[in-house]
Amino acid sequence: MVDRLTGKPVFLDISDLPMKKGVVTNRNKFILGPSGSGKSFFTNHMVRQYWEQGTHILLVDTGNSYKGLCDLIRQKTNGDDGVYFTYQENDPISFNPFFTEDYRYDIEKRDSIKTLILTLWKREDEPPRRSEEVALSNAVSLYIEKIKKNRKIKPNFNSFYDFVRKDYRKVLADKNVREKDFDVDGFLNVLEPYYKNGEYGYLLNSDKELDLLNKRFIVFELDIVKDNPILFPVVTIIIMETFINKMRRLQGIRKMILIEEAWL
Ligand SMILES: Nc1ncnc2c1ncn2[C@@H]1O[C@H](COP(=O)(O)OP(=O)(O)O)[C@@H](O)[C@H]1O
Ligand SMILES: [Mg+2]
Repeated sequence: MVDRLTGKPVFLDISDLPMKKGVVTNRNKFILGPSGSGKSFFTNHMVRQYWEQGTHILLVDTGNSYKGLCDLIRQKTNGDDGVYFTYQENDPISFNPFFTEDYRYDIEKRDSIKTLILTLWKREDEPPRRSEEVALSNAVSLYIEKIKKNRKIKPNFNSFYDFVRKDYRKVLADKNVREKDFDVDGFLNVLEPYYKNGEYGYLLNSDKELDLLNKRFIVFELDIVKDNPILFPVVTIIIMETFINKMRRLQGIRKMILIEEAWL
């Protein structure tokens, strides 16, 4: 849909009325227009202004529409802000959902780690049993206790995997947890591709000590990722967790999530 007089894309602030009525306190915008009508051009300017005013911005992009702006922000801040995640053959997309700058692992952070591991472990049509959920939950809690005490251990997927293989296996044996309640070897086998030299060993073991909570301009470029059935769900969870974490912990600061090509 384009404006018939100007040929420009149509910009709707769909929260204007509910906001005046006091029903909602956050704004939603929707930008419609055919390819080439200027949607990305307009949003680049809008997002830049929000950034200049102190807003935290998380962009989900396809087609590198925000690469230039992200580079500019990185330059302006001497590398302090402007984080760009993308998948390249020689530099695959990589995160560390286990890392926090301050070792704060609140309930939501633990939950998001659990959800992530569950997504890797089980298929969508294969819900975990209660006993498996409990076992995973305990594994995550005990792992966090361990890395909090021993700061030499790098929090990442690799050290979590090692923890389950060694320490947690003993815990389960001591408690006489039966294999049918939680099959450690089956679990380790399914998750092996995400460990060290596995096919996706890069995905959750980034050694960049990057706490996205304090970054105000973050771009997730999903052109290649969106067609990969393994990477896409994982990256989606990481994006949502990153934004929800900002909503929780940055109260009183404006945050914005922008999704390019939202139908993809
Ligand atoms: N208001 C404008 N003034 C000048 N050039 C524009 C304007 N809006 C868009 N363009 C140019 O038109 C082209 C397509 O715009 P783009 O924002 O990529 O479209 P869309 O995202 O809707 O597909 C780009 O090269 C952009 O620089
Ligand atoms: Mg565009």
